[in-house]
Amino acid sequence: MIELDAAEVTAWSPDPAGGPDRVVRLLGPVTLRLTERRVAVVGANGSGKSTLARLLNGLVLPSAGAVRVDGLDTAADGRAVRQRVGFVFTDPDAQIVMPTPLEDVALSLRRTVPDARERASRALDVLTRFGLAQRAHVSVHALSGGQRQLLALAAVLATEPAVLVCDEPTTLLDLRWRTHVDALLASLAQQVVVVTHDLEAAARAERVLVVDDGQVVADDAPGPALARYRELMGARAAEAVP
Ligand SMILES: Nc1ncnc2c1ncn2[C@@H]1O[C@H](COP(=O)(O)OP(=O)(O)OP(=O)(O)O)[C@@H](O)[C@H]1O
Ligand SMILES: [Mg+2]
Repeated sequence: MIELDAAEVTAWSPDPAGGPDRVVRLLGPVTLRLTERRVAVVGANGSGKSTLARLLNGLVLPSAGAVRVDGLDTAADGRAVRQRVGFVFTDPDAQIVMPTPLEDVALSLRRTVPDARERASRALDVLTRFGLAQRAHVSVHALSGGQRQLLALAAVLATEPAVLVCDEPTTLLDLRWRTHVDALLASLAQQVVVVTHDLEAAARAERVLVVDDGQVVADDAPGPALARYRELMGARAAEAVP
């Protein structure tokens, strides 16, 4: 279970008037218990979705309040939390570090599979599950954007995280690859929290959080939550018209 207790994120920001830097609040306070297997997070650009997602695996630590995953505090038990919570970035290039897909997945397995031959064989099994076995030894730069996204996901899932957090995992993908990644995420046994601008994908979640201006302004089943989000965005669009 993911728990946020009055979690807030603040950052130092330059004062546009030229004064000393000021503390600005990027998110919160947010109090939530996430127990559903499929949770979607939607919201406008810059609303705080990635900040919220990054809180869940300790990539961002709360400036106040607390975030716990299965009872582990992200600030006090960061290492254990990162082993439980896999994080997939929007841009796969941010997380692919090895020259070939096989080596990249094998790197993820280094802690759990000490023997190098066994590790390579397990990495190939993982790539096979993701339809990438034929590309196991090519340069990662020769993969398509969709294949790189799948590889990033494969490398994270190879570690068998209890929870998977994905920050816009299909934003860069065409319809074919988006459908493929969506189906893959849907097939997973673990809890998945997905930040997305794809409202059709969000509609398939069990619970949807709407983030606006650093606050969770709706937390509901997809129907009412997405209706609220559309209403909010409609009002913004109307404000923007001169
Ligand atoms: N370290 C930081 N220091 C200062 N401001 C930050 C920092 N990180 C994020 N922000 C600001 O916090 C706000 C929320 O950012 P965040 O990345 O969470 O938005 P988002 O909802 O994920 O947006 P998008 O849909 O564009 O990805 C933005 O205005 C961003 O510029
Ligand atoms: Mg973001």
